[in-house]
Amino acid sequence: MPPFAVMDILDAVQRRRDAGLDVFSLCAGEPGGGAPTDVREHAAALLQAGEPLGYTPALGLPVLRRAIAGHYRRWYDLEVDPGRVAITTGSSGAFVLAFLAAFGPGDRVALARPGYPAYRNILTALGCEVVELECGAGERYQPTPELLDAAVGAGGPLAGVVLASPANPTGTMVDGPELAALCAWCAEHDTRLVSDEIYHGIVAGDREQACAWSHDDRTIVVSSFSKYWGMTGWRLGWALLPEELAGPVDALAGNLALCPPTLSQHAAVRAFSERSYAEADAAAAGYRAHRELLLERLPALGWGATAPADGAFYLYADVADRIREAGDRDAVAWCARLLDQTGVALTPGADFDAVDGVGWVRLSYATDTATLRAGLERLSAWS
Ligand SMILES: Cc1ncc(COP(=O)(O)O)c(C=O)c1O
Repeated sequence: MPPFAVMDILDAVQRRRDAGLDVFSLCAGEPGGGAPTDVREHAAALLQAGEPLGYTPALGLPVLRRAIAGHYRRWYDLEVDPGRVAITTGSSGAFVLAFLAAFGPGDRVALARPGYPAYRNILTALGCEVVELECGAGERYQPTPELLDAAVGAGGPLAGVVLASPANPTGTMVDGPELAALCAWCAEHDTRLVSDEIYHGIVAGDREQACAWSHDDRTIVVSSFSKYWGMTGWRLGWALLPEELAGPVDALAGNLALCPPTLSQHAAVRAFSERSYAEADAAAAGYRAHRELLLERLPALGWGATAPADGAFYLYADVADRIREAGDRDAVAWCARLLDQTGVALTPGADFDAVDGVGWVRLSYATDTATLRAGLERLSAWS
């Protein structure tokens, strides 16, 4: 599996911190605020009470599976059978289970380039053929039925399509009608759609947040407590499974990990309290304010095109001209020099797009406001 280019930047960030130098980290895709109060208090109470916290069923605690079904009623007006909710070790765990259950070696699975690198790397490790769809501004950096037709025409049928909306690194979203069209295309071509919806709840523009199960429950929906609820380290996510995959995923989950983290599962039930939704919504409002600040300062940075930042907390930007002017080799070298000279850490695009990412960077605004402001000031002065 290829290592991430951002690792070099993170090593350099650590060296700077060790040396007592300033760092303005705009590279981590991680909310800083932590879990909702109710979740933390419940976890503390369970530990205090000396609960044994042993293994749970492989697909998770029934009470949490029911709570997740309730979440789909609340957000999407959808009735979900809790028996088709699989609790997983982060959405990362859901991808491994979903890909293992749905695809076999040699299967062709399409995804957007630029995109989240783990999909590509996990699928490759499982022996699937990854079909990268070159998604640019014209497609809002998202797969379209036309791109899928072209991929079939060029190389044969697709067993699957992986979609993320809002996406990482671009933050772009497909809206309801676009998602409906992709679901219809997949149904018509006997192609399994895997819909990564882990950034739902963190939406900034006027695009509608749409769930793939509103269109077709033969799709696999993947989500997580990591982003909207800020629970990255609790390692808890879930998948909504097509009827015929619930059994296979149960067997796989039991064999691979026995069960997802038990303390996190118990505590996560409280993520669905009114207070937790209110806290998560307040965090999302904070990201929206950060996005406004960033868009306001963007002209002063002298960057090229940026992907429309519909949601999540990322801005993906073309800095190829800046790289060329500076005489740097690529965005990795440019980001390394930026960090060295200003203390600002960005993520080079190569991790998301091995072809065109050499000229792009991802800025994460999931940081605190002071760090974002200071980082943007340094960036404008450096540009
Ligand atoms: C698009 C996307 N999907 C999935 C993940 C994995 O998140 P987790 O395993 O914490 O749910 C990430 C993490 O950054 C991501 O950006």
